[in-house]
Amino acid sequence: MNIDIDLVPKAQRKEKPTDVLQVAFGTVFSDHMFSMRYNGSEWTDARIHPYGPLSLSPAALCLHYGQGIFEGMKAYRRGERILLFRPEMNFKRLNVSATRMVMPTIDPDFGLHSLMELIKTDSEWVPEVPGSSLYIRPTMIATEPKLGVRPSSEYLYYIILSPVGPYFKEGFSPVKIYVSDKYVRAVKGGTGAAKAIGNYAASLLAGTNAVKVGYSQVLWLDALERKWIEEVGTMNLFVRFDDEVVTPPLAGSILPGVTRDSVLTLVKDYGLKPNERMISIDEVIEGLSSGKVKEIFGCGTAAIIAPVGSLWYKDKPYAVSNGQTGELTQRLFEDLIAIQSGELEDTHGWVVPVE
Ligand SMILES: Cc1ncc(COP(=O)(O)O)c(C=O)c1O
Repeated sequence: MNIDIDLVPKAQRKEKPTDVLQVAFGTVFSDHMFSMRYNGSEWTDARIHPYGPLSLSPAALCLHYGQGIFEGMKAYRRGERILLFRPEMNFKRLNVSATRMVMPTIDPDFGLHSLMELIKTDSEWVPEVPGSSLYIRPTMIATEPKLGVRPSSEYLYYIILSPVGPYFKEGFSPVKIYVSDKYVRAVKGGTGAAKAIGNYAASLLAGTNAVKVGYSQVLWLDALERKWIEEVGTMNLFVRFDDEVVTPPLAGSILPGVTRDSVLTLVKDYGLKPNERMISIDEVIEGLSSGKVKEIFGCGTAAIIAPVGSLWYKDKPYAVSNGQTGELTQRLFEDLIAIQSGELEDTHGWVVPVE
C-alpha cells in the first residue's frame, strides 16, 4: 500500500520544546501523524498528514464499548542515526491485542515501514539530549457508528509521536509503590495480556487513591487470591532474592513487556539467575525483613527501569534497599539506555535503525 503524504508547510510547524527533559511526559506532539482505515475487508487510505483532532461519530463503537488497543515504543537519536528498540515485538503484540479484541491485524512489515516513514518525516522531533527520546504511540480504535455490543466493521489505526524525558517526575530515583489488595487489574481469561484501552481505565481508581497517599503507582496482585504479584501500573516487576532475579510468569493476566524480556536476557548475561515464577506478596514482605530481597524494580518502555524504594502493603510501609537504587537496578538502567541509544554493543540484535 502506498502512503500519501500531506505535509505541514515549514512556516507553520510547531516550536519544539527548548528543554525536553522538563516537559511532562506525553504532552507535546510532533507535526505529523500516520493513519489508515479498515473498511470491513482491508486497510486503506494510508496517510502521513498534519497532527490534529480526529473526526469520529459520537456513536463510534470505541467510545461506548472500549474496543481499542495501543502500543508504546521509543526512538532514540545517536547523531544522525535514529534507532528503534525491538519494534517487531511491539507489532507482534499489537496483533495479539487485536486478535483478543476481535480487531483486524496489521501486516508487521507494513506497520514498521509506516512507522519509519513517519519518523523520517518528523525526524527533527527526535531529541538528542541524554535521557530523552521520541515516544511512539500506535493506536487502533473501532469507528463504526453503531449502538450495539458487537465487533466494529470499521477501524482507524494511527501513530502519534511525542518527544519525552523521564516518565516519573522523580526521574531515575526510587519510586513508592502501593500494593492494592482491594482492587484488581485483570484475571486470567480476561484482557490483561492485551494492551487494551479498558485495562487502563479500570486501573484509574486504585492509581488515583495511591497518588493521594503519596505513592506513584499500584502493584497489582492476582484477582482470585490477592496473594500473587502480577505487575505495576505501566511496568512489569522484578524482585531480586539474593542472586535469583524473579518476575511473574506470563500466565495470561499480565502484559508481556518488551523490557521484561530484555531484562531477563541481560540478567542472564550478568551471570545471575533469571527466573519466571510466581512470587507471593508474603514472600516479598518476609524477604524484606530477612534481607533476602535485595532489590525490586519495575521495567517498561516509558520508564525503562524504575527502582522501587518502598512498598505500602496492608496499612504499613516497607523500605526496599534502604530507599536507595540497587546495584543491579542501576546497571540494567544504564545498559538498556546505552544499548537503545547505540552507545553499547548490541550483542542481541535488538536495535533497528530507521532507514
Ligand atoms: C500494564 C503494563 N505492563 C507492562 C508494561 C511494560 O511493557 P513494555 O516493556 O513492552 O513497555 C506496560 C507498558 O507498556 C504496561 O502498560
